[in-house]
Amino acid sequence: SPLIARTVPTLRRALDNLRKRKATIALVPTMGALHDGHVSLVRLAKRRASRVVVSIFVNPTQFAPTEDFGAYPRTWKADIAKLAAEDVDIVWHPDVKAMYPEGFATRIVPEGPALAGLEDRFRPHFFGGVATVVGKLFTQCRPDFAIFGEKDFQQLRVVTQMARDLDLGVKVIGSRTVRERDGLAMSSRNIYLSPEERQTAPMLYRAMKESARRIKAGDAIAPAMAGGAEMIKAAGFALDYYELRHAETLAQITSRKDGPLRILVAAKLGSTRLIDNIAV
Ligand code: PAJ
Repeated sequence: SPLIARTVPTLRRALDNLRKRKATIALVPTMGALHDGHVSLVRLAKRRASRVVVSIFVNPTQFAPTEDFGAYPRTWKADIAKLAAEDVDIVWHPDVKAMYPEGFATRIVPEGPALAGLEDRFRPHFFGGVATVVGKLFTQCRPDFAIFGEKDFQQLRVVTQMARDLDLGVKVIGSRTVRERDGLAMSSRNIYLSPEERQTAPMLYRAMKESARRIKAGDAIAPAMAGGAEMIKAAGFALDYYELRHAETLAQITSRKDGPLRILVAAKLGSTRLIDNIAV
């Protein structure tokens, strides 16, 4: 089973030992409550590097006071069993005090095109919290590779930009979204859905598929996107955004020739906020 490191010196010592033996290291940052989406990132990490570190840290700085930091699912025993079964080498599991010691006063604040008016518009503190903690995870672990899910597509862009801008020497790799059989993207937050909401939730994916199908078939963008948004609202979601963007720059696009294209969505079902995206 994996070595569990809970302080920076313990982590550093374990990683220094691996590096002395010429290991390459891949990091998979998570907040725990692990599901098959996380496991797929671990498997990609294992194909890229000889050693794999998984971090489990529910990061308070990326939650707004109104959000679910306290209620966020914590399933430590099951998480460790899953990581042991995948032959993970190190689990980095600091507590809040180890990550943000008394007097902590520095933040990484992303700017520029990755703040594309998607998640950042609805969760203004989110990417500052993510960039700060991922920046720390990268400097704590100094991995060769870091694996992030396409599920959180804008997060993947923000982290890639930060690693490049700050010369962190980490190659950031995106991994495809793992879905339930009915198309719902796996998420630690899916457990918040009532049975009825759980039945409705795959409509996000169905609507994106339908918009993508119409755009590929040559329909105009505006009605193809409006049709998808209508499907989502008719199913009972409160829609935050439903947008077609350039898949690499996240820039707004006006013509299907501006591609590669990506549809991104965020919507609330009851009190649960879901996000998803697909390639067109
Ligand atoms: P968390 O939500 O636990 O997700 C950890 C990683 O798993 C992220 O890179 C996310 O994109 C990926 N992931 C989640 N669901 C997935 C799915 N269905 N298929 C594939 N990958 C999936 O994202 C975070 O944690 C945090 O913001 C973090 C980066 C750890 C910083 O605190």
